[in-house]
Amino acid sequence: MTPHLFQPLTLRGTTARNRAWLAPMCQYSSTDGFVDDWHLVHLASRAVGGFGLVMSEATAVVPEGRITPHDAGLWTDEHVEPWARVVRAVQGAGALAGVQLAHAGRKASTHRPWSPARGSVDPADGGWATVAPSSVPFDGLAVPHELSASDVSAMVDAFAAAAVRADRAGFDVAEIHAAHGYLLHQFLSPLSNHRTDAYGGTAGNRARFLREVVTAVRDAWPDHKPLLVRLSATDWVEGGLTVEDTAAVAADLALLGADLVDVSSGGNVLADIPVGPGYQVPLAHRVREVSGLPVSAVGMVLDGPQAEQVLRDGGVDAVMVGRAALRDPYWVLRAAHELGLPAPVGVPAPVGVHGDADGGGPLWPAQYLRGTWG
Ligand SMILES: Cc1cc2nc3c(=O)[nH]c(=O)nc-3n(C[C@H](O)[C@H](O)[C@H](O)COP(=O)(O)O)c2cc1C
Repeated sequence: MTPHLFQPLTLRGTTARNRAWLAPMCQYSSTDGFVDDWHLVHLASRAVGGFGLVMSEATAVVPEGRITPHDAGLWTDEHVEPWARVVRAVQGAGALAGVQLAHAGRKASTHRPWSPARGSVDPADGGWATVAPSSVPFDGLAVPHELSASDVSAMVDAFAAAAVRADRAGFDVAEIHAAHGYLLHQFLSPLSNHRTDAYGGTAGNRARFLREVVTAVRDAWPDHKPLLVRLSATDWVEGGLTVEDTAAVAADLALLGADLVDVSSGGNVLADIPVGPGYQVPLAHRVREVSGLPVSAVGMVLDGPQAEQVLRDGGVDAVMVGRAALRDPYWVLRAAHELGLPAPVGVPAPVGVHGDADGGGPLWPAQYLRGTWG
C-alpha cells in the first residue's frame, strides 16, 4: 500500500501529489516586496525535491503589513509577474504553488533575524508606525496604533485584492496567515485585543475580522482553488487562546468556505512552549475533530518515518515541513526512500513540463533518476 505521506490529497478541484508540504518560511530577501531569483531558486528547489504543496512565505497585503522591510508582498499589480515566474517554476516541477497572505500588525517593522539590531525598525531607517486591534505592544516592540472599524474594513479589502493578484500570478492555493501573533491572531486573542466595539469582547466578536477576511478572500478566489487558514491553536499562557477556542473558530470558518486549517501555535506573547517532535499534532487533531475540516500539522516533523506515523496515528491530513526542508530541499525524495517507496513514483517528466491534469505531478524529476537511492 502507498504510504499515507504519498497519497494525493484533493481539496475542491485541486490535487496535491502527496501530503508532504513545504511550510511557509520568510526569506527576508525582497526589495519593496518584489520576489526575485532567490525566491525562484529556493521554492522551485523544494518543488523539485518532491513537496506536494510549496507554500510561499508570509506575503504582505499592504506595505505596513511586512514583518521586516525585506518581506515579500502582493499589494500592487507590479508584484504579480515576478511571483508568476516563481509559480511557473514550482508548478513545472509538479508541485502546487501556495501563497500565504499576511499582515504582521504590531509585529511589523522589525529587523530581519540575522541583523544584530533588535526591536522595531526606526522610521528614519525604513521602518513605519505599526497598527493593531489595541494599543498594546508586543514585548520589546513599538506601541501600535489602534485600528478604527473603517481601517479594519479597508484591511479586509486589501486581503481580497491581494488574493485577486495571487490568482493572476497563477497560485493554486491561498492561505490566510492568522497565526504566530500577527494581525489576525492579535484580533483573535484576548491578550492583544482589548476592543469594546464589534471586533472585540466576546470570542465571536474577536473572530469577526478573520471571518470577514475569509469571506472576502473566498469570494475573490476562484471556486476550484483551495483556501487554507493558518491558526495558532493556543497562546500557551493562562488567559490566552486555547485549542477549544480555536476549534470553535475553525468550525465557523468551515461554514464560510475554508478548506483546511494549518494548525500551528504561539507567537502572540512570550510563553514556555513544550517543543518536541510533532508537538502540535494533537492540537491539529482536535481542530479537525471539532470543525470537521481537514488539517495539516506542522512543527518538528523531521523525517519520513515520523511523518508517516503522524499521518497514520495522529488524525491529521497533511504535514508541513519547515526547518528540516531548509537543511534538505530533497526531504520528500529522501522520505520516499526511507519509506521504501520504489523510485520513480509516477511517470517522470522533465522539469518544466506540467504534471497530471489534476495537479498531481511525478515525484522524481527525470533528470535526477540516476540519483535515486537504493
Ligand atoms: C526561517 C523561518 C521563516 C518562517 N516564516 C514563516 C512565515 O512566513 N509564515 C508562517 O506562517 N510561518 C513561518 N515560519 C514557521 C514555519 O512555517 C513552521 O511553522 C515552524 O518553523 C515549525 O516547523 P518546523 O519545526 O518544521 O520548522 C517560519 C519558520 C522559519 C524557520
